[in-house]
Amino acid sequence: METRITKLFGIKHPIILPGMSWISVPELVAAVCNAGGIGWLATGPLNTEQTRESVKKIRKLTDKPFGAGVTLLMPGARENAEVLIEEKVPVINVSLGKCDWIAERVHKYGGKVIATVTTEKHARAAEKQGADALQVTGNEAAAHGSQVTTLVLTPAIVRATKLPVVAIGGFGDGNGLAAALALGAEAIGMGTRLSMTKESPVHEMTKQAQVEASIEDTLYSDRFDGLWCRVLKTPQAKKSIRQGINLFKAMIEGPQIARELKLPLFKLMMGMLAQPENMMKLAHMSTAFRKIQAATEYGDLKKGVHLTGQIQGLISDIPTVKEVIDRTVKEAQEAYARMGKMMK
Ligand SMILES: Cc1cc2nc3c(=O)[nH]c(=O)nc-3n(C[C@H](O)[C@H](O)[C@H](O)COP(=O)(O)O)c2cc1C
Repeated sequence: METRITKLFGIKHPIILPGMSWISVPELVAAVCNAGGIGWLATGPLNTEQTRESVKKIRKLTDKPFGAGVTLLMPGARENAEVLIEEKVPVINVSLGKCDWIAERVHKYGGKVIATVTTEKHARAAEKQGADALQVTGNEAAAHGSQVTTLVLTPAIVRATKLPVVAIGGFGDGNGLAAALALGAEAIGMGTRLSMTKESPVHEMTKQAQVEASIEDTLYSDRFDGLWCRVLKTPQAKKSIRQGINLFKAMIEGPQIARELKLPLFKLMMGMLAQPENMMKLAHMSTAFRKIQAATEYGDLKKGVHLTGQIQGLISDIPTVKEVIDRTVKEAQEAYARMGKMMK
């Protein structure tokens, strides 16, 4: 398969591993790259030293192109972006912030920038800011998908700019890949599917809970980390929705979490105090961090909250990354042949 995305990033298959905190780690990123796709290292929970080490580790595990994500709203993200630029990371995925200054510097060494967007307005802005491609996250997605479904959002964004689009949210097999290409996208991203593989560091108990879950077993709410977010339906997730954010607890836990994660505490506090809106967002995010880590790393679904997409309901196995990618490409080709016969 050849699309503008495969050519832009120099990859074999139009399949992307998006950034997932604690999951899109060097081993998983490299596994996806070695299987012919491309992955974004998640730098959210990493400080600058850890980001640099992770980039070096990916380079040891693969000689293929790879990328890394920065969520500019998060404290420490700009510093991590500086490290990625210094290390000349081939692709930088920017979300929740302006990508102009990153694009200018990344282009100087021949790198590429892909901006994550969920609205036509942000898509047009990212194009003006110099992004080379767009990653579009529909409502079915794990975590922060749009209010609009992938089926409608993808063609809307394809129409809004001239940039090649990676469709994300609800993809887990080759039928999905064929559908995304039909909608005008030039690659898919698979978060839930690739997080449910042998190489994924998600705790086995959490993976198993996802295998057993149905397409209805997710909750979409803005009461976990302050942004609209999709998670696995568990007692803790329901409780979090009921209780909402405890600002007092968040103000106490936020700095503690920042210390544990070696995030710049001063910046976090300044961010919190600068404007009430920021304060709420950061407070939400810092308390959500712990719950997400509990489910992902420790398999604790009593205290933890796990990010997952609706596609989990169609996933019934935990294969290797290569098996998922090979199977997805083969199924997409079969779907194309099947549709070709129907269109005659
Ligand atoms: C377990 C898990 C953890 C995730 N963590 C993050 C995260 O830390 N930050 C983020 O912006 N998106 C996160 N995501 C969302 C993905 O980047 C991606 O947008 C989403 O998984 C795509 O939808 P899909 O799951 O239907 O493939 C996560 C997704 C999963 C499944």
